[in-house]
Amino acid sequence: MERLPCSCIKIYMIDMILYANHIEEFTVVDSTLYQLFGLEGKCALVTGATGGLGLHCARLLARAGADVVIAGRNLDRLQELAMNMPGIVRAVALDVTDADSVRGALDSMAEDDLVPDIVLNNAGISVTRPALEQTEADFDAVIGTNLRGAWLVATECARRMVNAHKQGVIINTASILGERVAGAVAPYAISKAGVVQATKALALELARYGIRVNALLPGYIVTELNRAFLLSEAGERLRQRIPSRRFGELNDLDAPLLLLAGDGGRHITGATLAVDGGHLVSGL
Ligand SMILES: NC(=O)c1ccc[n+]([C@@H]2O[C@H](COP(=O)([O-])OP(=O)(O)OC[C@H]3O[C@@H](n4cnc5c(N)ncnc54)[C@H](OP(=O)(O)O)[C@@H]3O)[C@@H](O)[C@H]2O)c1
Repeated sequence: MERLPCSCIKIYMIDMILYANHIEEFTVVDSTLYQLFGLEGKCALVTGATGGLGLHCARLLARAGADVVIAGRNLDRLQELAMNMPGIVRAVALDVTDADSVRGALDSMAEDDLVPDIVLNNAGISVTRPALEQTEADFDAVIGTNLRGAWLVATECARRMVNAHKQGVIINTASILGERVAGAVAPYAISKAGVVQATKALALELARYGIRVNALLPGYIVTELNRAFLLSEAGERLRQRIPSRRFGELNDLDAPLLLLAGDGGRHITGATLAVDGGHLVSGL
């Protein structure tokens, strides 16, 4: 490709700056852009919100205007978080492995007239050891939380949305390990592959109610779930195989989540959106 002379590049850059300024003005005056990504008037439920992705995303949804309910096993911790975070309207106890607990959490929200418009189905665990050393209890715990738990939350929330005539959206936190495999996390990869298929199957069946179901597939993002591994030598070797040569940061998820959560994504359902610096397309 022919290279531009320096003077042309300068003019081009000035144009870009003017254009960027113009966009800034545009966002201030054009309310349709807020309609695409703003979440005012919507109730969002985030599971597994005591830390990591869940807590970060709960804060983001609140910043975008949603009334956010944070849910998980550690109610004391969630209540403490809710007290200190604007936009977090409730904390509810919820163990995703227990169907009664899932129904109880939604009943408790209903007492406050809260039916979720947005569900971030985020609770998850992992057990890291070679497949032949994974016990039945390890397998059951991972599948029970990540796959069965996500299914229980998604289907119960969808029932409540249908009964309330709400056209909501369910966003499942899957993983790039739902599409490819890695050593020592077989049950986790199996569970997330199930979440990818559950996303598509539910998107098909719930479209008639105007309910969208999508999945985020984050690549490796440093959180409590994986910190020890990612910061180890093996983690460093892994980082070298990511096309972008970096692990993700929590705020890499912000725009993708708002796209799926807001009305701007109203025609997106059954989609799996990888946020991984190209890890899924790394060369074999
Ligand atoms: N970090 C990554 O690189 C990455 C990449 C791809 C996908 N993901 C997915 O992102 C999600 C969040 O992961 P994270 O990295 O943020 O992990 P994390 O910091 O360990 O957070 C996991 C959350 O899930 C909750 N949880 C676990 N079991 C639960 C249960 N039975 N019922 C309700 N809540 C439960 C935990 O709550 P407690 O306080 O009760 O333990 C915690 O709030 C998971 O689904 C994970 O698979 C993460």
